[in-house]
Amino acid sequence: MNSMNCDILSVLFDEAQIRERIRILGEQIDRDYADKTPVIIGILKGGFIFMSDLVRAISIHTELDFLAISSYGAGTSSSGVVKIRKDVDIELFERDVIIVEDIVDSGLSLQYIKDYIWKHRPASLRTCVLLDKPAAHKIETQFDYVGFEVGNEFVVGYGLDYNEKYRNLPDVGVLSPRIYTE
Ligand code: IMP
Ligand code: MG
Repeated sequence: MNSMNCDILSVLFDEAQIRERIRILGEQIDRDYADKTPVIIGILKGGFIFMSDLVRAISIHTELDFLAISSYGAGTSSSGVVKIRKDVDIELFERDVIIVEDIVDSGLSLQYIKDYIWKHRPASLRTCVLLDKPAAHKIETQFDYVGFEVGNEFVVGYGLDYNEKYRNLPDVGVLSPRIYTE
């Protein structure tokens, strides 16, 4: 059988843990934006599953948009080179914007995205990331909402890929190095 599970060393966060963490993040965003209608921007592709669960954990009015970037080639380390593949459609001028990203590794992609969004002169800009790899940061980076911290291993699932695969795994797990060294 061509099963993804055979390629996973260990599950870090299962569906129930992710659901519970997102429920709390949704409550925080409800409180922080109680009298506002934020524009929530999901970063494609990695952020698509997190985005879809997060917005359903939020009960205030929101507007949703997507920004598609590519930061990595086919490997497992950051190139620092970011390209916009699909721009946002909603006018961001004087809006309250929340960026939703899958994972912060070196921090270079998120920094690039933040600088790019600031150019639209939003009223405010916050970031919500599912996973943070604090030991991998190459620049000083800060975000407002974080799901979980992970170590310096390469993780896949719940939207995160290796060579476009494993995004549809419902949990977040550590990819077996056998997959990217063979
Ligand atoms: P950074 O620019 O080094 O922070 O890399 C961020 C981007 O690299 C994320 O948006 C992911 O798409 C990808 N990435 C970084 N670490 C991982 C990982 O462990 N698994 C899957 N993708 C990753
Ligand atoms: Mg990404």
